[in-house]
Amino acid sequence: MSLDTRKILIAPSILSADLANLSADLKQVETADYVHFDVMDGHFVPNLTFGPGMLAAVKAATDVPVDAHLMISNPDEMVPAYLEAGADIVTFHLEATNHANRVAAMIREHGAKAGVAINPATPVIMLEDIIDYVDLVLVMSVNPGFGGQKFIPTSLKKLRQVKHMCSDHRVSPLIEVDGGVSEKNAEKICHAGANVLVAGSAVFHADDRAKAIAAIRAAGESANQLKA
Ligand code: DX5
Ligand code: ZN
Repeated sequence: MSLDTRKILIAPSILSADLANLSADLKQVETADYVHFDVMDGHFVPNLTFGPGMLAAVKAATDVPVDAHLMISNPDEMVPAYLEAGADIVTFHLEATNHANRVAAMIREHGAKAGVAINPATPVIMLEDIIDYVDLVLVMSVNPGFGGQKFIPTSLKKLRQVKHMCSDHRVSPLIEVDGGVSEKNAEKICHAGANVLVAGSAVFHADDRAKAIAAIRAAGESANQLKA
């Protein structure tokens, strides 16, 4: 799996896919870098989605690496099940555990990439003592639970803060953003520091999913050209 932080990686969220035809929808997003798999427990967030059995089925249906986003109250207990199911990246919420280092270490020991997520109201400073131990930081740009919400603009400031924290610590985890991402705002999101863009409705509500992925990627990469 690539950890090239200069590339813009696209992760379509299957939350917005046609779940009764998921295998066909997965084929239409084969040009993506990750399949974003949203796990919601009806407790950490007010919605319920997929479990480890579904993740194993997705793994069997696609060669695209799976990025599991655990919006659950008990990552300490449930992470092993998602690792066993074959997740390539497992991202847990910092707000959901008192033992973030232990959870991150458990993920890495299994050979997967460890990601830590923060909700819109969680300040970036909370990442200070975990950032050295993860492969990915996920900045939520909506309050998690549902697809199709509006991007919260203060997320851009948070992305810049994460980027600064990474350079202070001399680490370069992937910086992922999730919620309300589209071709229209991808450039400014990447300019602020993100290099993994999750997109649910912007990909799966498009007629041509491959074209939507390419358009979001191109918009994100144009921010890299601004920097160069
Ligand atoms: C929200 C989920 C997202 C969601 C994004 O709680 O974590 O991954 O699918 O959907 P869009 O891209 O439609 O905002
Ligand atoms: Zn997500």
